[in-house]
Amino acid sequence: VIHPILLCGGSGTRLWPLSRKSYPKQFAPLVGDITLFQSSAQRLAGEGFASPMVVTNSDFRFIVTQQMAEVGIDPGAILIEPEGRNTAPAVLAAALFLQKHDPDGLMLVAPSDHVVPDSEAFRAAIAAAEPAAQAGQLVTFGIKPDRPETGYGYLELASKPEDFEPKVIGLKRFVEKPDLDTAKDMLRSGNFLWNAGIFLFSVESIIQAFKAHCPHMLVSVQTALDLGEHDLGFLRLDPDAWSGAEDISIDYAVMERAENLAVVPYAGGWTDLGGWDAVWREGVPDQDGVVIHGRASAIDCTDSLLRSEDERLEVVGIGLKNIITVAMPDAVLVADVSRAQDVKKAVETLKAKS
Ligand code: GDD
Ligand code: MG
Repeated sequence: VIHPILLCGGSGTRLWPLSRKSYPKQFAPLVGDITLFQSSAQRLAGEGFASPMVVTNSDFRFIVTQQMAEVGIDPGAILIEPEGRNTAPAVLAAALFLQKHDPDGLMLVAPSDHVVPDSEAFRAAIAAAEPAAQAGQLVTFGIKPDRPETGYGYLELASKPEDFEPKVIGLKRFVEKPDLDTAKDMLRSGNFLWNAGIFLFSVESIIQAFKAHCPHMLVSVQTALDLGEHDLGFLRLDPDAWSGAEDISIDYAVMERAENLAVVPYAGGWTDLGGWDAVWREGVPDQDGVVIHGRASAIDCTDSLLRSEDERLEVVGIGLKNIITVAMPDAVLVADVSRAQDVKKAVETLKAKS
């Protein structure tokens, strides 16, 4: 069976003020009625999948169980990190946990901050990836790029993809978060896809990959599990051992270094809701490109996002162009769309002030 591993330890500061440290974006209904976390869990429930494992932190543990209950999904193990050390230790903890419980299993690493509208197509891509993962490959999922995005990883293919059928193709190279010039070159060459940040591999082969490319992390993470505390159905990793694990993403720690990589192209629609510009692009725009959410209205506006996150707050924009406005009861963001990635700076500024 495939064990979905839901990673939801990120804090999503680029979606401030909706996303907060104590309540980050993956737990908020950003697009549609259910949250991103809930739709990630739903997408990976049912036949062929074990109960999803969750790797998160202490602050989110009850949000996780409550939100899973709301959509009727029983979680598998919930691992609690004493502190976020990025995705490599989180994935390794899940792998070492499963080594004890299902050493022959497959793991599907799934971020919880993505919009994947077509669950059928997504499952077809996973099914196509399964034999390669069984055979020991680390399988990535490739998205056709449409801009030189520097916030993603890039997958170099041996040749230009002819069609976008969900089938396994060989991968030459994995490049995590290139600079803008490199990203432009990659887009131009046509041989690159974006890394969706979703991975399928066997428990065995990912542990082997960590042994080969990141051996120092194994001891810390294994000890953090062994000394971990069971508490109300959660497994709390040991803080001292955990703090010895390097703070690094799986992309840098393993994917850029591994050679047994494969990719399945995925054309079913995918967005990492990394910032307000992405939320605006993902919304339902009127003929002027304006996206409205909640008690908001636009007069003579174009290409803007206006959101009210509170029933008592009325937001009105007049003559706006390329503007994002998000009103919360205690904070209002007004930003140029092109500066959406800088919202994390706002959070840093506020932190410094408090
Ligand atoms: N449990 C846990 N602990 N989860 C974490 C941690 C952590 O310390 N850090 C991040 N996560 C979760 C986030 O909540 C998110 O669901 C997922 O792991 C991915 O982390 P991001 O921080 O959002 O990564 P990214 O978007 O910058 O880059 C990754 O995804 C891109 C596509 O969205 C990479 O895999 C890129 O190569 C990829 O293109
Ligand atoms: Mg992300």
